Amino acid sequence: MNVVMVGTGYAGLVSGLGYAKLGHRVACVDTDASKIARLDLGDVPFYEPGLPELLRDMQEAGRVVFTTDLAQVIDGSDVVMLAVGTPPRPTGEADLRYVFQAADEVGACLGHEALLVVKSTVPVGTNRRVLSHVREAMTATGRGELAPLIQVASLPEFLSEGRALADFFAPSRIVIGAEDPVAHDLLERLHAGVSAPLILTTLETAELTKYAANAFLATKVSFINEIAHVAERVGADVRTLAKAIGMDPRIGPSFLQAGIGYGGSCFPKDVSALHQLAGYNGYDFKLLSAAIEVNNRQRDLFLRGAEDVLGGFQGRRIAVWGLAFKPRTDDVRESAAIDIVQRTFARGAEVAVYDPKAMGRARSVLGDRVEYAPTAMDAASGADALFLLTDWPEFREVSFDTLREGMMSPLIFDGRNLLADLRLRDRGFTYYGVGTNG
Ligand code: UGA
Repeated sequence: MNVVMVGTGYAGLVSGLGYAKLGHRVACVDTDASKIARLDLGDVPFYEPGLPELLRDMQEAGRVVFTTDLAQVIDGSDVVMLAVGTPPRPTGEADLRYVFQAADEVGACLGHEALLVVKSTVPVGTNRRVLSHVREAMTATGRGELAPLIQVASLPEFLSEGRALADFFAPSRIVIGAEDPVAHDLLERLHAGVSAPLILTTLETAELTKYAANAFLATKVSFINEIAHVAERVGADVRTLAKAIGMDPRIGPSFLQAGIGYGGSCFPKDVSALHQLAGYNGYDFKLLSAAIEVNNRQRDLFLRGAEDVLGGFQGRRIAVWGLAFKPRTDDVRESAAIDIVQRTFARGAEVAVYDPKAMGRARSVLGDRVEYAPTAMDAASGADALFLLTDWPEFREVSFDTLREGMMSPLIFDGRNLLADLRLRDRGFTYYGVGTNG
């Protein structure tokens, strides 16, 4: 099939290359000319394991092209997929401007029957509005007779950063929302070669499924974070508890890691957007307000705990390990780590940071207020305390003897419980986890 992918952000690029690998011909389109130029040269603009190799293979196989010119590649397409960003507005709702702009552009140059597919995460009802935009643009540019031939389908994405290719080729499910069985059938064929259960449903159910999935996972994280505080107060261990409850298949083991809370470009945005959507439809989604509140409080409590032990941040030197919102990505959007760094600095500390992949992106947010250390050990050198804020596995591999000797005082606040099982107290450290005695 011929696929046009509009938007080469995270979802668009991973999916575009994924469809190419499945044997389709893919044209990736973006308005950002510098990004397209980089991709054309085989350079992936963000860190995602396996993606540069896949890009190279697909370029060599001649199955993917990159362009800023939608009109040039839209002829002959079977599927036109929108994967543009839907960032949050200050009020929490999704900003749909890029989605509608893309729909208008598609409508202005589409001259044949094709299936329009919305991959961007959008509030319920948006797919129908996208279809209206496309049809109106077609009518406005003199191709109104073709407008009824265009159909829309919702194809929510469930890719997780750091393991996006595995999620693309072996997803837990593929959800396809459409009114017309022909659209269901076409998208089923597009995914031939991917072994996953298919859920064929309506536009509205598909749209809401995406929000429900992210909101449920975020709520699960907030739940375990609340349990962690209870555990701390009664002398229980949240890690063992999470393992024990996770063995119940009705609960499941994932997303039960307590810590400084969830971040990223999806959970905070989608939980707020679903809360708003419910509100607009006359329903107060109480569980989500609590999940958001608990998530924000995790950072406050982490900072308060450290501040109490240190007797204030003024004049203290704090080492930070981890800036990305989670490991195996360089993404710092809505990262709890970045927020904690900013607040630590604002309270008078001198902060030295290290992250294996996210230093560049962090620098564009934090500027020169903090010190960027070349290694984890350098960041910790002379520090009054170490904050571990992203659970990169390599932070477990350092020499803890060297670390202890290099720090001014061997004090660790582990915001991810990554080192909790390493018996650091027996090795001369004062160690604080989240809901665990370490
Ligand atoms: C999330 C979903 O997991 C994907 O299924 C979805 O497709 C994606 O959003 C999206 O909407 O595009 P992602 O944002 O990449 O994926 O990250 P997650 O792995 O879900 O982690 C989100 C946050 O929760 C991270 O900050 C992570 O550190 C935190 N987390 C996760 C915890 O604090 N504890 C856990 O047990 C699990």
